[in-house]
Amino acid sequence: MALTSSLSGPLRGSFRVPGDKSITHRALLMGGWAEGETTVRGANAGDDCAALARAVAALGAEVRAEPEEGRERTTYHLRGAAGRWQEPRGTLDLGNSGTALRLLAGSVATAAVRAVLDGDESLRRRPMMRIVEPLRRMGAAVDGAAGGTRAPLTIRGGDLRGIRHVSSVASAQVKSAVLLAGLGAQGETWVQEPRPSRDHTERLLPLFGALVLAGADGAVGVTGPHVLQGTAVEVPGDFSAAAFWIVAALVVPGSEIEITDVGLNPRRTGLLRVLARMGADVEATIEREAAGEPVGRVRARASSLGAVSVAADEVPDLIDEVPIWSIAAALAKGQSTLSGAEELRGKESDRLRGLARGLPRLGVTVTEAADGLAIEGRGPAADEALGGGKLESAGDHRLAMSFLVAGLRSRAGVEVSSGDMVDTSYPGFYSRLLTLVSSR
Ligand code: S3P
Repeated sequence: MALTSSLSGPLRGSFRVPGDKSITHRALLMGGWAEGETTVRGANAGDDCAALARAVAALGAEVRAEPEEGRERTTYHLRGAAGRWQEPRGTLDLGNSGTALRLLAGSVATAAVRAVLDGDESLRRRPMMRIVEPLRRMGAAVDGAAGGTRAPLTIRGGDLRGIRHVSSVASAQVKSAVLLAGLGAQGETWVQEPRPSRDHTERLLPLFGALVLAGADGAVGVTGPHVLQGTAVEVPGDFSAAAFWIVAALVVPGSEIEITDVGLNPRRTGLLRVLARMGADVEATIEREAAGEPVGRVRARASSLGAVSVAADEVPDLIDEVPIWSIAAALAKGQSTLSGAEELRGKESDRLRGLARGLPRLGVTVTEAADGLAIEGRGPAADEALGGGKLESAGDHRLAMSFLVAGLRSRAGVEVSSGDMVDTSYPGFYSRLLTLVSSR
């Protein structure tokens, strides 16, 4: 389904966004594996998390989903498999979700059962050796397409031993897969990364009764075998969903919005630091804690943005926000650059390529490098609206949402292909967009 957006007046309002997708995945997996009952409130109601919930049920957890008001959040009631996943009947289909497949691979490896983990075409193209190699070293038998480098993955685990894994990429998915496997392994399991990645797993494990070890070198670890205990989790709003509206408010003249109950974990809010350097009028206030995470509100007002450089050490903290950042850069004054971001080529689509193809359709000059982009901003003046037309989202939810936000500055309007993919992470995105543009 194609979705459209076009030149908009000021965006205004105070609202919440769906529950955090990363935290929902972790809560479903930990609660599904744990002993006893777990309640996950405010969970992300998108297709990715629903796919993981189905997989967890197929592995022997009792899972009941109860929709919350609106389409954006779900409450999950789980009775866990008490540390013993059962052999699933049929393939576990994780749809479009790399996080679901990789984290589940780690957890499933704790059990002496055979499980086949698969997903859609996009997921079958994504790199898997990064988890296959450490899981094999822990003692799991893992086979996959293309020599074990791609899904579908067939895993037979059990009888794991702890390892020290030095990851060549900063990836919370790799770190989490290995730590979740470590809960079922003998002895200590450690993960060391070149740069710190998002730490939701480390923050959530203690709520489920596990001790997380911290090494002087920044490595994190767990001691196994250790069965988790069920608990109650309240999922904060997803900063990556909020990011679309923050940038929309910055680039649409006269806008002012507030997003409440949103997760403000510094490993996720790199975009705010980059936007501040661009001169954005944006303010985040931490108010409380939920799921071991700082939670609060963000206000954003329309701003004249300047160019900025984003380098490798910042990339993990805004890894999913690069598409929407590129729209801010497209409307900033001067040339913005991004480097050290080659990981973006292995996401739901090759996002560097998708942006390098899409932005020129908006009249923005882009140079694509192996590991980044240079974007010639058109400047913030209201009369320098963007071009428009049909944009290819490559079936990628974050490209689709970013281009639809760009459309709010397009006189010609933007039409995005596969717009229904926004439902993987943000059901309700398009109705929120329609509400915001009509509530002037
Ligand atoms: C995620 C980690 C990141 C991110 C993804 C969610 C997670 O991926 O891009 O959307 O929940 O752990 P990598 O670990 O591959 O960088």
